[in-house]
Amino acid sequence: MDPAARLRSEAFRQTQAVIAARQTTSARRLVAPGPTDAELQALLELAAAAPDHGQLTPWRFIAVPPERRDRLGQAFADALRDRDAQATEEQLRAASDKAHNAPLLLVAVACLGPRDPDTPAAERLVSLGAAIQNLLLGAQALGYGTGLTSGRAMTSPRLHTLLGLDAMDQPVCCINIGTIGQAKPSRRVRPAVESFFRTL
Ligand SMILES: Cc1cc2nc3c(=O)[nH]c(=O)nc-3n(C[C@H](O)[C@H](O)[C@H](O)COP(=O)(O)O)c2cc1C
Repeated sequence: MDPAARLRSEAFRQTQAVIAARQTTSARRLVAPGPTDAELQALLELAAAAPDHGQLTPWRFIAVPPERRDRLGQAFADALRDRDAQATEEQLRAASDKAHNAPLLLVAVACLGPRDPDTPAAERLVSLGAAIQNLLLGAQALGYGTGLTSGRAMTSPRLHTLLGLDAMDQPVCCINIGTIGQAKPSRRVRPAVESFFRTL
């Protein structure tokens, strides 16, 4: 196939369309229904296709089902209280509320402990990012909205303990997936290629 035809191919156009359409939807706007068990399984299999130097699978995804969201919310609120003893009830409630938004919430965890081969943390984070993006794009292709959330609670011992993580495991962000309740068009302008690309 000549290069121009490759750019017009169905496979490239569909991939391009899914990637171009991905945008953050605030977790507050993500409502039921979320992905089915079969869809979640398929999304996790997409995550497993991420590049992974040394085949370490240096990441984990931990689902927090609705009946466990209270515990996650409590960890978020406790984390806030730990770093700010003056936090108001309203601030604590807002922190806790972040656990209760999307129908599917996965905590993305980077595994940064010693391994063989002991690839650098940066490479493992790249692998985690690729796994997350595969998940987001798969969810986008299924018609769901997605959004990542993070914040200082990610590095709190409260969250670490709740999730039962190893010492060198690092929660990085939450992946929120669900049906877009109230669409809000993105105002984000994508960076121009020349702003991030050059040739040596
Ligand atoms: C690791 C990571 C953590 C993020 N955490 C938050 C967050 O806590 N709150 C938020 O509003 N967006 C968060 N985002 C989403 C970015 O704000 C969003 O991707 C960015 O604004 C670009 O918009 P787009 O995703 O629609 O292209 C996070 C993104 C990444 C990669």
